[in-house]
Amino acid sequence: MSYKKGEAYTLTILGAGTIGQALLSAYLASEKAEAAPSKIIACVRSEESAKKLETQYSSASSIQFETSFGEESNNKAVEEAAVVVIGTKPYITEAALSPVKDKLQGKLLISMVAGWTIEQFQTYSSKISRVMTNTPAKYQYGTAVIANSSDITEDERQLILELVSPIGKVVELPEKNMDAATALVGSGPAFVLSMLEGLVESGISLGIPFKESLECSIKVMEGTAKMVELSGTHPGELKHKVCTPGGTTIAGLVEMESQGVKSGIIKGVQAAAHRASELGKK
Ligand SMILES: NC(=O)c1ccc[n+]([C@@H]2O[C@H](COP(=O)([O-])OP(=O)(O)OC[C@H]3O[C@@H](n4cnc5c(N)ncnc54)[C@H](OP(=O)(O)O)[C@@H]3O)[C@@H](O)[C@H]2O)c1
Repeated sequence: MSYKKGEAYTLTILGAGTIGQALLSAYLASEKAEAAPSKIIACVRSEESAKKLETQYSSASSIQFETSFGEESNNKAVEEAAVVVIGTKPYITEAALSPVKDKLQGKLLISMVAGWTIEQFQTYSSKISRVMTNTPAKYQYGTAVIANSSDITEDERQLILELVSPIGKVVELPEKNMDAATALVGSGPAFVLSMLEGLVESGISLGIPFKESLECSIKVMEGTAKMVELSGTHPGELKHKVCTPGGTTIAGLVEMESQGVKSGIIKGVQAAAHRASELGKK
């Protein structure tokens, strides 16, 4: 079956690992939306992972929830679904999709996989939505960048937005930006955690205990990001506002510039985007 607005449908997550569960957690934690599935089936490879999913999510929502593992059972889950989310690692994606190829035709296929293009997925279905998100999605503080194939209808586009929005912030971009989004959004938390670690350790090196240094560092990051968002002011302008001539902040910034902190961040994200562009290639 394929998705028809207003009709009950099953959503199958083929590969409900870290990122598949981030989507699942955010969705189940949100208020039941208009286009919510009547049933969600979370598919994994092993029985052990299926059992963990069962324990964690089976009573989390009024939406009927099932788990599945193994090729035969996963094939049935895809057959039953009108919408399929693929959340496997890039190098496993072909092996996960090949056995269900016939059952995917005409269905809406939402990909969370890094590197795989819309064109590559169109071997399986013409209706493809590429979604790049990140692990904070689990706590509804995620970011998701979406690029849809051209034959996604407006109803399907609305459905995708409704399914993905509980993640946090959703941004629609052309597919040509997906490798950059994979680096900035998908890998972004690791980069920010590295910066956070740097702040925490700076506090410790200057005599602040770990717990307090962590608390301060988290709030500095969160508060600064919120200030940029709420003020609508350019980050550079806000930065210069806190630089007293000859003061402490400018002394710190000059040292960071000489250490190449900003260019290091830019080059790191560019390297991740380059790697993302290689992932879907054989
Ligand atoms: N993790 C991130 O921060 C992040 C961010 C953005 C995008 N992504 C993208 O998300 C995708 C998944 O990454 P991940 O970190 O979530 O990986 P993961 O935690 O390893 O999850 C992959 C899941 O796929 C299941 N699986 C493997 N083979 C399968 C098959 N043939 N049929 C059905 N399920 C199968 C695994 O089951 P078992 O548990 O039984 O092995 C596992 O639950 C990747 O393409 C990655 O690029 C990840």
